[in-house]
Amino acid sequence: MGGKFDKEFIDKKGKRMDGRAPNELRPLKIEAGVLDEADGSSYLEWGNNKVYCGVFGPIECHPRHKQKPDRAIIQARYNMAPFSVDDRKRPGLDRRSTEIGLLISEALERVVMVEKYPKAAIRVDIQVVEAHAGTRCAALTAASVAVADAGIPMKDLVPSCATGKVDGKVVLDLNKEEDNFGEADLPLAVLPSTEEVVLMQMDGELTPEEFEEAFDMAIEGCKQVYEIQRDALKRKYGGK
Ligand code: CDP
Repeated sequence: MGGKFDKEFIDKKGKRMDGRAPNELRPLKIEAGVLDEADGSSYLEWGNNKVYCGVFGPIECHPRHKQKPDRAIIQARYNMAPFSVDDRKRPGLDRRSTEIGLLISEALERVVMVEKYPKAAIRVDIQVVEAHAGTRCAALTAASVAVADAGIPMKDLVPSCATGKVDGKVVLDLNKEEDNFGEADLPLAVLPSTEEVVLMQMDGELTPEEFEEAFDMAIEGCKQVYEIQRDALKRKYGGK
């Protein structure tokens, strides 16, 4: 977070480098049911991020010692392809991917009706094929659509987006430059129905007032993301 950046993030008219207003999301498109071999799937484009998600299950949980007698566990795996970033990423799991997989598993366990499937596992495989900041939010957003597409009962979808601070101002949905060189980054996932927070991290520094502004902005962002998630499912399955 922070570091040298010699341009202004926000111009005199209040527009960001990519022309967005401070509270504007990057363009977001989601499609449900894009993979033939998965039980449920989704594809998401968010700004320049591109993410696939495939869900398998519920299936019997292996290894057995990970089984829970009264519920299913969610095993989310987040992977960034080597060609997803400008500086080729070393293939395979690293600490960051492991951490993001865990965060996504924990967030999904709050909404999926895991108690319906004792001893089972639900596998959620996420492939980020282009990464331009905000990929954990993009991955979680894609994941809950894919779980719904698999027909697994859930209390709600999980919309996620980040807010942060650049040039001393709170903004929604950081782009790559804002994420790399900005002053703070706050990825959040908030359920619109209950305002329950199922993911929250923070990098950088915000005053309590800025935090409140960023948090409220993220709630509004999640509401917009939620509508796009619902549209993706409506396009595939119809309904209201
Ligand atoms: O993607 P997200 O913002 O959730 O996570 P991050 O750790 O804050 O990473 C921000 C961005 O840095 C990613 O979206 C990638 O564009 C980039 N990155 C990279 O170039 N190489 C990595 N090994 C990890 C991240």
